[in-house]
Amino acid sequence: MIELRDLHKRFGEQVVLDGVDFTVMEGETVALLGESGTGKSVLLKHINGLLHPDVGDIVVDGKHVPSLKRRELSELRSSIGYVFQNGALFDSMNVFENIRFGLSDMDLYNSVDYCRDRVPECLRLVNLEPDVAKKLPAELSGGMRKRVGVARAIAGQPKYLLYDEPTSGLDPLNADIIDNLVTHLAEELGVTSVMVTHDVRGAFRVADRIALLTNGKIALQGTQKEFLESDDEHVKAFLERDFEDTSYAA
Ligand SMILES: Nc1ncnc2c1ncn2[C@@H]1O[C@H](COP(=O)(O)OP(=O)(O)OP(=O)(O)O)[C@@H](O)[C@H]1O
Ligand SMILES: [Mg+2]
Repeated sequence: MIELRDLHKRFGEQVVLDGVDFTVMEGETVALLGESGTGKSVLLKHINGLLHPDVGDIVVDGKHVPSLKRRELSELRSSIGYVFQNGALFDSMNVFENIRFGLSDMDLYNSVDYCRDRVPECLRLVNLEPDVAKKLPAELSGGMRKRVGVARAIAGQPKYLLYDEPTSGLDPLNADIIDNLVTHLAEELGVTSVMVTHDVRGAFRVADRIALLTNGKIALQGTQKEFLESDDEHVKAFLERDFEDTSYAA
């Protein structure tokens, strides 16, 4: 379970998170929606301790993330797969090495036999052919690069998966492929997931529950039905804006 309690974070004078409460139950997939610049990535980075809160607590798997010692934090991080917003693949390494890099257990990382099995298995899980392993990131399409980013995140068999905008910049067809992948991984691996997105359509397709971040707070966290029936002005404005956006009309 992931729990954010009354989380506050500012950078200098800029208040980004202003009392965020957010929960993800075991096995659940929660989509986190919000306009660009509202602090979605900042929120996600608190879950695996990449950022430290000014006020508030983050509890993951019963552990209080802000008070973990370095070693405990790296242990926790090995149970959290993180799909970075920009992909964060190493351009000079081929796909095999990029996925292998997702193994935080050094014994497994250094085991040639293990990696020879595990890398193709991760490629299979994200619907890529085994021979993709030999390619460099520059030789892949945008959608394939996103999938390699997911393959790296799942390499260490994490209990939690955090996706930061896995479908941004993709055409609707490739976005659907990634959305299906998120669902498939939740079902096949039983992982607990948070998917940051500004795509309402994708969020509705994939998530058990949805949360909307506005003005540093979660305006609503609930089911699709609760979203559509909500009287909250932020929720209504966000949904209206989205359904007017023709990019989702296809
Ligand atoms: N390390 C940092 N130092 C200073 N300011 C930061 C830092 N990280 C984020 N910010 C600021 O916090 C705000 C929220 O950023 P964040 O990246 O979380 O937005 P976002 O909701 O993920 O947006 P997008 O949808 O465009 O990815 C922005 O104004 C950003 O400039
Ligand atoms: Mg972001």
